[in-house]
Amino acid sequence: MSRYDLRGRQELEDRIRKTVDPEQGRIPMFVYTDPDVYALELERLFGRTWLFLGHISEIPNPGSFVVRTMGEESVIVGRGDDSVVRVFLNACRHRGMRLACEDFGETTMWRCPYHGFTYGSKGDFLGTFMGAPFEKVAYPEGLDRDSLHLLEARCETYRGLIFATWAKDGPSLEEHLGDVRWYLDLIVGRAEMEVVGVPEKWVVPTNWRLPAENFASDAYHTATAHSFLSRLGMVKGVDFGRDGYHIDPGGGHGLGVGVHFDDESYFPAELREEYERNLDAGQLATLARLKNMHGNVFPNFTFLIPNFIEIEGRRVTGAMLRVWQPAGPNRTQVWAWHLVERDAPEWWKKLGRRMYTQTFSSSGMFDQDDTENWEAQTRTSDAALYRPEEFDLHYAMGLGVPPLPESEFPGPGDVYDGKFSESAARSYYRVWRDHLLEDGR
Ligand SMILES: [Fe+2]
Repeated sequence: MSRYDLRGRQELEDRIRKTVDPEQGRIPMFVYTDPDVYALELERLFGRTWLFLGHISEIPNPGSFVVRTMGEESVIVGRGDDSVVRVFLNACRHRGMRLACEDFGETTMWRCPYHGFTYGSKGDFLGTFMGAPFEKVAYPEGLDRDSLHLLEARCETYRGLIFATWAKDGPSLEEHLGDVRWYLDLIVGRAEMEVVGVPEKWVVPTNWRLPAENFASDAYHTATAHSFLSRLGMVKGVDFGRDGYHIDPGGGHGLGVGVHFDDESYFPAELREEYERNLDAGQLATLARLKNMHGNVFPNFTFLIPNFIEIEGRRVTGAMLRVWQPAGPNRTQVWAWHLVERDAPEWWKKLGRRMYTQTFSSSGMFDQDDTENWEAQTRTSDAALYRPEEFDLHYAMGLGVPPLPESEFPGPGDVYDGKFSESAARSYYRVWRDHLLEDGR
């Protein structure tokens, strides 16, 4: 029986309530690929929470737009002729056909390819002779133009990051992000950033949550899954992912900050002045010691400063953003953006592109390792749906370990000494469970 009926829904909610137990470090396997859990996520998570859609540098001019996805719905992220950024459901109000069929572009209006209904850059159905072909003949009594306005999501930006939500009320973007903003500043707020090229997209046969929680909370896997870095002599020892801090900033967000013990910052001296203009003293001190940072904004927006590696005798890293776009319970479309400081020296830009291609991208060495794990976990979960007994996974690392006193680290949130912990993953699943069980009606 499908769980779309009310009784089935109730059974599913009861099972989630009973078995998803991050407080004890236990997560049941079925939640990864059960189609009914996925349906509940689309409704209660992706239909309501703030979702990352792109960077402001992707739509620089009035009329620029990109096409993105919220949950499984296509949306247009466009800068109107008044320069305001808006997000619309990419669907004509007449019969629901997609208005924008390209990935990005520049336009003064969207014209539906099916019957020709036409909308302006603010989502308004255009005036007579422009809105619908042969309007006077086809609709002699006229059209109610207001009711044909494109469906519009609530859109806000933070430091150039564009987010939207279908929730008409509820928390602002700043409230949703909370303390993770302090850490986002280190990657996208330290300077004026721009996206290099266009985002890369590829499909991985995994549930979307496995990569999200990996970036939020899992520095532990680097010693095994990515040990090649050490074997190729690119880093010293396989424990390069251990030194630093595991951070739970609240809200289901999570991150790890890796630090080095050298005197000098690894970031280019040419950019120091711009960093000083944009960051506070605590953020500058953190950036000066930083050798990597990985994190996830709940639910599916990942940010990453990969571990610095040496290319052509220079230490180099990148600023990377990801979205784990759900495309079914066991299928994810990966979106990957690579950003760089607009006024960076040429060597940093050039070597950063090579860093991106080699490490975290569709051709990246790290992605080859990670993808194999996520695919196999997803297959395990698919198969476990038919097990007679519940199959729990173990999320207990660092359970009961207290966070550091506030004086030990300048950033906000619960900060744990050393990156090997699963505290942020437990918080992720607490917030995830609360969203799924909140009926909201
Ligand atoms: Fe990894």
